[in-house]
Amino acid sequence: MEQSKPSRLIVGITGATGTIFGVRMLQMLHGSGVETHLVLSKWAARTLVHETPYTVKDVQDFATNSYAATDQGAAISSGSFVTLGMVIAPCSMRTLAAIAHGLGDNLIHRAADVVLKEKRKLVLVVRESPFNEIHLENMLKLARMGVVILPPVPAFYNNPQNLDDMINHVAMRVIDQFDIHLDVMNRWDGVLLDQRRTRTSE
Ligand SMILES: Cc1cc2nc3c(=O)[nH]c(=O)nc-3n(C[C@H](O)[C@H](O)[C@H](O)COP(=O)(O)O)c2cc1C
Repeated sequence: MEQSKPSRLIVGITGATGTIFGVRMLQMLHGSGVETHLVLSKWAARTLVHETPYTVKDVQDFATNSYAATDQGAAISSGSFVTLGMVIAPCSMRTLAAIAHGLGDNLIHRAADVVLKEKRKLVLVVRESPFNEIHLENMLKLARMGVVILPPVPAFYNNPQNLDDMINHVAMRVIDQFDIHLDVMNRWDGVLLDQRRTRTSE
């Protein structure tokens, strides 16, 4: 019998600001050999058009497969559909709460619940500021279960030149979590900027 280890990643995009993080991940994974299985929440669709030049159709086209958030019968609703895990980017406080409390009332919540019960990897790119106690408690509860809480906080050590650099860096670091290492950006190599400038001018 043939053994297979499918390279499938579930990508949820919810209605927090920063839908571009989920979009950029799909763009980076497009053509990488990793299948992406996308679900956008109703409010993600709303924020997407508010914040980016992309339509829902554009974003769906970056993914291998996409499902309606209301489609509880989709493949990703079952643990027998083997995946590397799931990322939700950005993850709203509503979706965070639904996952922390085991609600499965849309496909994003259900797929996350399945990933947890199957002990696969769940990464939440949580976005709110500031956090209240409910948000923090929900994050702590999930972190204790092994969920990766990865807010889209920019780094400056890699000398980002523009917003795109910052978005790419966050997206690359999220993808790293799944042991998929796309070298789309400079990584920290211990070389300080001054040293780098000297090296290139030599
Ligand atoms: C422009 C816009 C920005 C929003 N930003 C956030 C945010 O950063 N974090 C958050 O938790 N909710 C944010 N919301 C509110 C969520 O969209 C709302 O709570 C929604 O019910 C989330 O549902 P979902 O998790 O199913 O996408 C925002 C809404 C809009 C319209």
